[in-house]
Amino acid sequence: MALEILLSEEQIQGRIDALAEQIKADYGEEPVLMVSVLKGSFYFLADLSRRLGHNFTMDFVQVSSYGDGKSSSGIVQIRKDLDLTIEDKHVLIVEDIVDTGATLNHLRELFGTRRPKSIKVVALLSKTAARTVKTPIEYVGFEIPSRFVVGYGLDHAERFRNLPYIAVLDGE
Ligand code: PRP
Repeated sequence: MALEILLSEEQIQGRIDALAEQIKADYGEEPVLMVSVLKGSFYFLADLSRRLGHNFTMDFVQVSSYGDGKSSSGIVQIRKDLDLTIEDKHVLIVEDIVDTGATLNHLRELFGTRRPKSIKVVALLSKTAARTVKTPIEYVGFEIPSRFVVGYGLDHAERFRNLPYIAVLDGE
């Protein structure tokens, strides 16, 4: 297996600086609940949230759509729901990657039934070419090609999440 760097640590951190500035400007003083989609988004949440102010709080949801393989099953399963109620709150879903869009679409529909004040999405990576379910993403870090990527939270069979950069995994 070979790793080819697609996005360096500097590129990722620089883009998160810009995303944080944009998010802060858009919400102003309004309180926001960031909802991190486990496991992949935990590095992104950690880095993004530390650039935001005291009005930003956090909760976690765990959804499964991939298993150990390299392609999406298209079946979305909630493994762990939110601890907090989102009624009348601004919800910002934090994703590491949007691939087919099935996970995000499912979450938007589910959370929409809970009467939040608003729902927006920040995704570090988006594979627009792989989209089968159209779903809006308000803040996108990087558009990337439809290749299998690991690192910065993204795994292959649970490995490589702890790389500080994002790489294409070849040779499997
Ligand atoms: C990944 C990623 C998204 C989802 C995107 O999670 O974090 O949640 O897949 O794919 P989709 O747009 O095709 O639905 P994964 O299921 O691999 O779980 P993990 O974050 O725990 O690795």
